[in-house]
Amino acid sequence: MAEAATGGNPEHVPDTGDGSNVTISAATPAEVGLRFEVDGEIATITLDRPDKRNAQTFATWSALARIGETLPEQVRVVVVRGEGPSFSAGIDLRMFTPEGVPGQGSFASVAALGDIEFEQRIAEAQEGFLWLRRPEIVSIAAVQGHAIGAGFQLALACDLRVVADDVKFCMKEPALGLVPDLTGTKPLADIVGVPRAIEICLTARTVGAAEAVRLGLAEIAVPPSELDRAVRDLADALLATDRAAAAATKRLLQAAPGRTLEEQAAAERAEQVERIRALFGRG
Ligand code: CAA
Repeated sequence: MAEAATGGNPEHVPDTGDGSNVTISAATPAEVGLRFEVDGEIATITLDRPDKRNAQTFATWSALARIGETLPEQVRVVVVRGEGPSFSAGIDLRMFTPEGVPGQGSFASVAALGDIEFEQRIAEAQEGFLWLRRPEIVSIAAVQGHAIGAGFQLALACDLRVVADDVKFCMKEPALGLVPDLTGTKPLADIVGVPRAIEICLTARTVGAAEAVRLGLAEIAVPPSELDRAVRDLADALLATDRAAAAATKRLLQAAPGRTLEEQAAAERAEQVERIRALFGRG
């Protein structure tokens, strides 16, 4: 098992070259709060600040991005989970205070940045979420308890969500005067539709397990004690399919909503030509 230690200042993450043993240095571990482990074809990212309900900081998002950049090639399934009673209570509320998060500033300090630098800062944070959609992997969020704001968006950044019966999704940002900006609005609108997404976000209400399954926000809801097993079973089932075919099929499915039927049919042909040639030794 290759393992990455509890995270620290992502600027100091050493590059291991082949990505097989990513170590996040421990300069400010409490502010990052991530564990990263690789076991064969499954990588597990664990939000690991349970005493603070896995609140996230800019350092968390930088570390996530770094994991994405250095993900070992053999990994096909990435599980994102949270330690303790909550998946994640969202952004660290110290960002709203004048003192901010040590070494990372506050909303007041980033508000003083110029437009380009400010948007760049947000883009860097978004990098921590975007890679979870890569066709080469399937990402699964294992969500128990609260998944608020950035926590909800991290779950939405994954391809699939397996939830515990006690899950509480909440897009709190509009209630705090913000928008959800960690890439969550598109998957939410794609999954539940624009009207339901408007209702969920603009009321900042809680979505529980039964409704999450009904809306397609979760594939399955299980008792909390069975969450890890359910995720493992899903991962095993995903790993049972051919790797290249899985990636090609995910590419097709991801692009389908933005294409016409004819365009999609053409894309299917192109992918299948590749597949059949590869299978019959002409790739
Ligand atoms: N940031 C920092 N600390 C947090 C936190 C957060 N988001 N959420 C919880 N904590 C801390 C609490 O301060 C508390 O710390 P102490 O023990 O040192 O006092 C500890 O975690 C446990 O919290 P609770 O006692 O409140 O735990 P609970 O189980 O009773 O309640 C909760 C859990 C409902 C998640 C509640 O903690 C809560 O409402 N947290 C805030 C949620 C929130 O508003 N998040 C911001 C979302 S918006 C966002 O994320 C914006 C964005 O992306 C840009």
